[in-house]
Amino acid sequence: MSAEHDYELATAGEEETRGIGERLGRVLRRGDVVLLSGDLGTGKTCFTQGIGRGLACRGAVNSPSFVLMNEYEGRETLYHVDLYRIEDVEELDDLGLWDYAERGVLVIEWPERGPELLPGDGLVIELRYGDVDRQRRLRFLPRGPRGSELLESFRAAGPSSSQSTRPPPASRSPSPARARSCGHASRRPAVTIPASSSP
Ligand SMILES: Nc1ncnc2c1ncn2[C@@H]1O[C@H](COP(=O)(O)OP(=O)(O)OP(=O)(O)O)[C@@H](O)[C@H]1O
Ligand SMILES: [Mg+2]
Repeated sequence: MSAEHDYELATAGEEETRGIGERLGRVLRRGDVVLLSGDLGTGKTCFTQGIGRGLACRGAVNSPSFVLMNEYEGRETLYHVDLYRIEDVEELDDLGLWDYAERGVLVIEWPERGPELLPGDGLVIELRYGDVDRQRRLRFLPRGPRGSELLESFRAAGPSSSQSTRPPPASRSPSPARARSCGHASRRPAVTIPASSSP
């Protein structure tokens, strides 16, 4: 993966993050895999809620942390997985995750729990806190031909410039907010997925 193919944008609130997820959801198709990496509360579940909207899924997408995976019927079935609670990566072998991808769209939060999950083909999105309150930065890392195609479709479907990365407004608050409403109370920080580990 060369950095020149990465794409980064910033959002200013959770609804904007959902909107970005929705835009991606509209171009996803069966077999696609999206890995959402990032520290707790950075908006992975919010983003997935948007994907659910883009896939015209019925029912609100919620955090699947306590059940490992939730399934939502839509234009394609959305399989939403959260690996945070996986204790042993060998458990992943039993899950048959890739079988789900064949039946719909697979979105995985906390792929850091099983780095070998990194797909050869798909999209990794790293989310992180921005410099100001409620800002999040989303970095798209395409992997393989489908990853590149997906990123291209996503960008083509978007506004020409208004959502591209731009410098934040003059910061009035030196520390980003950590308030969260749809996540979990206590979690360990994420491990960064090395962008260079793709085939
Ligand atoms: N720009 C933003 N985008 C997304 N969420 C935001 C933004 N600004 C503030 N928030 C808040 O951050 C929180 C994001 O929660 P969310 O559950 O989506 O995070 P998460 O990355 O899935 O966390 P976890 O690692 O616990 O699963 C929400 O409380 C949301 O209101
Ligand atoms: Mg989450």
